[in-house]
Amino acid sequence: MALISLASPIFALTVVSLVYFIWLAFYRLCFSPLARFPGPKLAAATRWYEFYFDWWLGGKFVFEVERLHNEFGPIVRINPDELSINDPDFYNEIYVTEYRRRTEHYDVFAKGIDFDGSFLLTKDHDLHRKRRRPFEPFFSKKGISSFQLILAEIALKLESRLCALEGTGQIIRLDHAFSCYSGDIMSRICLGKDDSRPNFLSDPDFSPGWYNVVHKMVVQTPLFTAFPWLIRIVSTVPQNLLLWAFPQGQVFNTFTQEARQHIRKILSEVSDKRTKASVFHTILTSDMPESEKTEDRLTKEAQSMLAAGTVTTARTIVVATYYILSQPNLRSRLAAELSQTMSCWPRHSPTWSELEKLPLLQAIIKETLRISYGVMHRLPRISPHEPIFYKNYFIPAGIPVGMSAYLMHSNPDIYPSPHSFVPDRWIGDIDPAMNRSWVPFCRGSRNCIGMNLAMAEMSLILAVLFRPNSPKLELFETDESDVTLVHDFLIPLPRLDTKGVRATVG
Ligand code: HEM
Repeated sequence: MALISLASPIFALTVVSLVYFIWLAFYRLCFSPLARFPGPKLAAATRWYEFYFDWWLGGKFVFEVERLHNEFGPIVRINPDELSINDPDFYNEIYVTEYRRRTEHYDVFAKGIDFDGSFLLTKDHDLHRKRRRPFEPFFSKKGISSFQLILAEIALKLESRLCALEGTGQIIRLDHAFSCYSGDIMSRICLGKDDSRPNFLSDPDFSPGWYNVVHKMVVQTPLFTAFPWLIRIVSTVPQNLLLWAFPQGQVFNTFTQEARQHIRKILSEVSDKRTKASVFHTILTSDMPESEKTEDRLTKEAQSMLAAGTVTTARTIVVATYYILSQPNLRSRLAAELSQTMSCWPRHSPTWSELEKLPLLQAIIKETLRISYGVMHRLPRISPHEPIFYKNYFIPAGIPVGMSAYLMHSNPDIYPSPHSFVPDRWIGDIDPAMNRSWVPFCRGSRNCIGMNLAMAEMSLILAVLFRPNSPKLELFETDESDVTLVHDFLIPLPRLDTKGVRATVG
């Protein structure tokens, strides 16, 4: 008798849930504003379709989206709420500046990565502009020229670390070393010089913990994106319990706590009138409303800056380095090109505008960014008030529409042999469509704020490491599969069992 009375609420709940989910799927298939768009019915009915590819198969939905475009055409409904477009001519219609149209962030997307409050994840167009604007002057072309000395100091430090290993046979994880380089630059620029804060490049093993914290976080993104409430639980559970019950969540907490400590320190320095030259010191003393300067919000902003500014830049440098080291002819051509500009290094460090004029160096960087995509994932944008017209499709206002740099950069009509690394395709007279389709930093009002800094960092370190008389780096048991990006976790990764890009200094 007791069993029956217990069973009936459970039974009733199961029936109600089942009816709800059947009704929801039916609504999505027949009555949703996206019902008439092409695409698989299963993807239109449930988000589990995407989750299967991204979580179960490990960041593979981008390749399924590619397959769907091949089957259904340039516009596809890829989940119950979102459209994907694969048409290079339409990119500038989706990723627009504020003068053209307002753009909102799709708040379901990347919700679980715990950066809420940063301008990266600010949904509303106006609030995004307000939050982003104070940071823009630091990262403009003019702004980054004031970071020249910091970049040179940190590049020299990395070079000295490598020189000290010459002839020792010690195997260096270049992906770790470059994460230290970009991580130290971001910390110095964002948080200021602080001798009490350990810098990543000083660690004898090139701070594997720093690399791992960010990369472990990246691999968890499909889970946290699908179930954003998980991050709330993770942040309230005591550390020890979390480590035991859910070790994947620990990595997010570590990162948050470190960013919070930095912001706390800056807040106390600013209140003691001990200001330093850094992005966050300046933001805190600016006329930004006090409600925007809270510890919580700035912690999220710091997390987003440190992560966004480190991983992508380091990965691009490591991919470029792999291709240069694996192609002796390319390496010697690059050394020849750099010989004059780098002849006075380290007494004189070239400016970014000097390095920008070197065609092969810039072609290598552009080709690396093409083949490593920047952010491989589609980046959905919402036009909150105006509909968008694509061919004979009317896309109502409020619908998230995304395009993927992976699809843009792999188009064989624009880039013949798209999966091969061919820097020379960027030299001489080039088809303007190549530049139009090159979108590693995205475009429009929510494009990458750090693109100038990234280009300057990458140009300098490659110039330092590949000029004549540079440290004689040689690859160690590394092949192309260690850099070919085959998983898309927002940030693309190579095969997960890679031992990294390894080298010795001869
Ligand atoms: C090769 C290096 C880099 C690549 C390929 C890259 C790529 C991108 C892309 C594609 C976006 C758009 C993301 C989205 O729509 O959700 C973005 C946004 C962003 N990036 Fe970068 N990035 C790089 C380096 C940097 C650096 C050095 C910084 C440091 C300041 C940075 C900070 C940001 C921030 C804060 C955003 C959010 C912009 C906004 O929402 O307004 N990135 N980046």
